[in-house]
Amino acid sequence: MEFHSIEEFNSKIKRVIISKEEIETAIQNAAKQIDAMYDGHPILLVSILKGAFVFMADLSRAVTVPCEIGFMCAKSYYNGTVSCGAVKITMDLEQDISRYHVVIVEDIIDTGRTLNDVVNLLKARNPLSLKVVTLLDKPARRKVDFEADLALFTIPDYFVIGYGLDCGEYFRNLPYIAEYDEQG
Ligand code: IMP
Ligand code: MG
Repeated sequence: MEFHSIEEFNSKIKRVIISKEEIETAIQNAAKQIDAMYDGHPILLVSILKGAFVFMADLSRAVTVPCEIGFMCAKSYYNGTVSCGAVKITMDLEQDISRYHVVIVEDIIDTGRTLNDVVNLLKARNPLSLKVVTLLDKPARRKVDFEADLALFTIPDYFVIGYGLDCGEYFRNLPYIAEYDEQG
């Protein structure tokens, strides 16, 4: 992705769809639900890089149950639009998850393929339990039957940027979620 001016760069940010304040409030609520779900039992928060790094940083500071943090990087491979069922882990967890209540922290569920593959892979490692929390859910684009245990915001079929989400690796550092402007 190439920009010729800061004006051109900024013109890609069409409009804010979820403000910084709305995200903060939703995270406080989600953290309360997570605290209630695990009732003092330690958890392992696992974020899927790179998109979920900002959400992970804020969610992990809002929960009060004892928690460890883990990161993994996953890429799913597709034959055209059909998943080969193969998820390639380019960076794996260091923890043996059979001792943990695992909570996957994801930025967005779109087709559902990546998370479906990651969940199947982690389930095969026999964690004590496994749940999925996603900041955003785009159910209109779903290609595999996959639901998060907790979704903070459900959005229409917009391509969104900010708060960890990128377009061509840019815009991850915006403090809000915005719609991306293809024409801008
Ligand atoms: P899925 O396997 O189609 O559910 O892909 C999910 C991944 O695609 C997310 O983790 C994001 O990295 C990326 N993605 C999907 N929709 C968007 C979007 O609107 N903006 C930025 N990234 C997106
Ligand atoms: Mg992602």
